[in-house]
Amino acid sequence: MVRVDIADVVQRALDSLRSEIDTRKHDVVVEGPENDLIVNADAMRFEQVVTNLLSNAVKYTPPDGRIAVKIERRGQEAVLTVVDNGLGMDREFIPTIFTLFVQAERSLDRHTAGLGLGLALVSKLVELHHGKIEAFSEGLGKGSRFVLTLPALPPGTPAGNLAATEAPKPTAGPRKVLVVDDNVDAAESTEMCLRLDGHDVKTALDGASAIRIASEFKPDIAFIDIGLPDIDGYEVARRLRASPDHMYATLVALSGYGQEEHISRSKEAGFDFHLVKPADLSQIEFLIAAHPPARLSNTPGTNTD
Ligand SMILES: Nc1ncnc2c1ncn2[C@@H]1O[C@H](COP(=O)(O)OP(=O)(O)OP(=O)(O)O)[C@@H](O)[C@H]1O
Ligand SMILES: [Mg+2]
Repeated sequence: MVRVDIADVVQRALDSLRSEIDTRKHDVVVEGPENDLIVNADAMRFEQVVTNLLSNAVKYTPPDGRIAVKIERRGQEAVLTVVDNGLGMDREFIPTIFTLFVQAERSLDRHTAGLGLGLALVSKLVELHHGKIEAFSEGLGKGSRFVLTLPALPPGTPAGNLAATEAPKPTAGPRKVLVVDDNVDAAESTEMCLRLDGHDVKTALDGASAIRIASEFKPDIAFIDIGLPDIDGYEVARRLRASPDHMYATLVALSGYGQEEHISRSKEAGFDFHLVKPADLSQIEFLIAAHPPARLSNTPGTNTD
């Protein structure tokens, strides 16, 4: 935990969403705080919380929307409010949104929806920070308001020097990770864990969507299940390798089988590594941290080189 300036975090989160905000032509306004407002937080996790709230506002507000962020001190508390004039939420739906995998119906504008992990993550992290998160909406089409409250440090507290105090990270930095698995539970739990590690993660449940998502997302590394309902994982790897976009991506096969013939099939298809299922999260994290692959022999997976 370090002393974090909330306004800085909001700025960083907005910077990371800049291209999406610009594409959707949203008007984003940040108001406050009057004086520096500092909270004790895990800087990376806290930024994830703010980014998730803002990215929802960006995603669930039709183009040309308005997003207002307010940062204020209320006594001993720091309050961050994110208001949008977007799709809003049904009142009955609101109490459920912080639950894992809950999403409103994917109609019309909700096609951009993810997996329903963001707010579950937010709620867990906020709880770990001794704070609270609340959601409000007057109903569908009437916009949403999310209010995050955290204990504030006394006025005049200087922000910490993040570079000096941040715990060493296990990886060289956040990576773009694509997880392809038709087992929804496996895909989502892997996504959740990797997001907690700070990675930018997308999931696909079949081969065709994997290719579609990869072409936009341009993952650094993809974990691809071999047994998929449409085209198999080998074919996915072949098609990804056929595009110059994925020339330097690390491709990891997730297979039920680990015999020589399966490994060489993976290699022929363009995979860098072959993991036998169920793959350990630590193996997955190791390979992400190792991207771009050093192609050494002592990796936890079977290097297909
Ligand atoms: N600002 C908002 N406006 C309208 N609906 C929202 C807003 N934020 C969240 N929701 C609703 O709450 C649901 C859960 O949000 P959550 O962030 O957990 O998941 P997601 O955005 O669908 O997927 P993910 O965050 O995993 O990419 C969303 O699917 C959406 O229906
Ligand atoms: Mg979300």
